[in-house]
Amino acid sequence: MVQNTAAELETRVKSLLSRMTLAEKAAQMMQIPFFMVTREEALLWARRGAGSFLHVLGDDARELQKAALETRLGIPVLFGIDAIHGHALNDRATIFPSQLSGACSWNPSLIEEMGRVTAREVATDGLHWTFSPVLCLGRDTRWGRIDETFGEDPFLAGELGAAIIRGYQGDRLDDDESIAACAKHYIGYGEAVGGRDACDTEMTFRKMREVFLPPFRRAVDAGVATVMTAYGSIDGTPFTASEKSLKSILKEELGFDGFVVTDWDNVNSLVSRQHVAADLDEASLLAANAGNDMIMTTEAFYESAIRLVESGRLSERVLDTAVANILRIKLRMGLFERPEKRGKPGCFACAEHLDASLRLARESVTLLKNDGVLPLSKPISRIAVIGPNADDIRAQYGDWTYFSQPVANPGRTPQRPYTTLLEGMRARAGEQGATICYHPGCGVLPDPADDLDGALEAARGCDVIILALGDVEEQTGEFKDRADLSLSGKQEELFLRLTGLNIPIVTVLISSKPLCVPRIVAGSSAFLAAFNGGMFGGQAIAEVIFGRINPSGKLPISFPRHSGQVPVYYNQLPGWHGDKYVDLPETPLFSFGEGLSYTRFTYSDLRVDADAYSIRFTLKNEGGRAGAETAQVYLRDLVSSVLSPVKRLVAFQKVWLEAGESREVVFALRREDFSLVLPDERRVVEPGEFMLSVGGSSKDEDLISVTIYLR
Ligand code: NOJ
Repeated sequence: MVQNTAAELETRVKSLLSRMTLAEKAAQMMQIPFFMVTREEALLWARRGAGSFLHVLGDDARELQKAALETRLGIPVLFGIDAIHGHALNDRATIFPSQLSGACSWNPSLIEEMGRVTAREVATDGLHWTFSPVLCLGRDTRWGRIDETFGEDPFLAGELGAAIIRGYQGDRLDDDESIAACAKHYIGYGEAVGGRDACDTEMTFRKMREVFLPPFRRAVDAGVATVMTAYGSIDGTPFTASEKSLKSILKEELGFDGFVVTDWDNVNSLVSRQHVAADLDEASLLAANAGNDMIMTTEAFYESAIRLVESGRLSERVLDTAVANILRIKLRMGLFERPEKRGKPGCFACAEHLDASLRLARESVTLLKNDGVLPLSKPISRIAVIGPNADDIRAQYGDWTYFSQPVANPGRTPQRPYTTLLEGMRARAGEQGATICYHPGCGVLPDPADDLDGALEAARGCDVIILALGDVEEQTGEFKDRADLSLSGKQEELFLRLTGLNIPIVTVLISSKPLCVPRIVAGSSAFLAAFNGGMFGGQAIAEVIFGRINPSGKLPISFPRHSGQVPVYYNQLPGWHGDKYVDLPETPLFSFGEGLSYTRFTYSDLRVDADAYSIRFTLKNEGGRAGAETAQVYLRDLVSSVLSPVKRLVAFQKVWLEAGESREVVFALRREDFSLVLPDERRVVEPGEFMLSVGGSSKDEDLISVTIYLR
């Protein structure tokens, strides 16, 4: 298909707009939640010309599209879905590691592939648009949606965000296998006070620009088609009503040329929760003027918008702009020519897609402690696999699957293929002639069936215990923040009782987020974080345990020792007395960027050419086996007119090295990498001294540094 030139596209948009009535324009701005309305109401909305529906699949979508195409102007409907880690609301699709888990790979090309596979499956389902990626930062780990983030760092989130957007959208939006991406939630959703979902956000515009805007800038540069607003507020103004953040910054300054969709019922929330509008008309006026183009789920916006224009309170031009933004994306997607994407029939969970999920899971397993017990080697004849998350596919999947969000698909029976840790261990142990003794021991949540004695019995006499702990889907997601990040139920007690057996314990955390496990780490011979590893998370962990895979995951997020220590993100602003506690070390349990391998990497010979902004060093694999190391570059502005983070990531690269191999690694930085945001919100580079550090984690002891002068 020949894509419209920019000029042709504008002509088509103008021509459509000129033929639309006020009611049709208001309808085009609506996004209707299919499962919240009756079928008749949904059809009525389609006939009115609703711009979009969310959470509708298959024949239902086709019926709505047919109704829309039969209207006077025949503007196709855009169907959106939360395909967050794979098209996982559909129980036939490929399920990937969560964003947080996948981020442990620090591998943009695998993340791009995840986007591509997801897009292909979503498109094959006849849908057009995923509400992904989440570009909020996971800094307050009490927040229930940490699993949806790429972790705590703006640079890493931006790089991986851009990669997944490339995957979703491909080279062209009108490609049969491309779907529209949605960078969300704009902005600072993760900064909700107390980690409480959708609460107020402690943010100023300077801080927003410094910390939270960069991943969105990266997404816009990558051509993201849509952006979703956050629930929170900035300086007392809800983001839904913030003309400055939506119009001035996102659209004008960043040059975002797609459309903005509100989050769930944001317009109504201006009245019912945030109390900045007395009624729906007032809220609609605020939202429309602020630059929201599409309104998710607040059905009353439709009548309000019409009323507001008819009474002269709202300029019809505001609607024209919003509708034009929506139509432009629909045209760029080729929906007028072909309202249903063809996708790639037969691609659901096909071998190629499953392999992509497995490869990402393998690179995401993160080894954080190892006293030498791993990889397991002979003679090992009996292996105990214990713990509530060893054989629970729901815990392995986490949020946003057909279990947790059965709205779009009522299937709640686990669909093969998948591999739990127990299954992965059984397969590998079989090859080595070892026996597996399994017992869950207890539930993640307290359960009358908890049986610690049974678990001890199963483990007695074994050579090693693989203990899978963590959280479950009930503890993650919207509305599911946690004040206490220690292990729930009897999990810690199970661990303590197992230590009494004097058998080496390898603890594996299968969870949605970092949990506070200092005692468990101290008492384990090895500790692995896997988060929600998707379909083959269990296989990947087992492969690492047996040394089939040399682990290469690095943490995209820091682990607090205690809930009271939150937040512990590494790129904090320099503090004073408050940098330590009387009852805890100030350091996190594990820091951003940490992750061990079965081999050992060294960094040396660091050189910088300040004029060329380039940095080079030698990376060597000193150990006895091949492996991958993610080299990280951190920067510190040594004297700045506003506080600068103690360090911040500016570049990284995952490098594969054979045993004994060394390589010179070169990074070309850009001048803007050295910039900061002034109190008047301008981004500038202040000449002076900067410290550049490279190494295998954000911890000082893992870094070598050099100071440079920048003119
Ligand atoms: C609300 C969530 O905050 C958002 O992330 C999601 O995309 C929408 N609901 C639609 O399900």
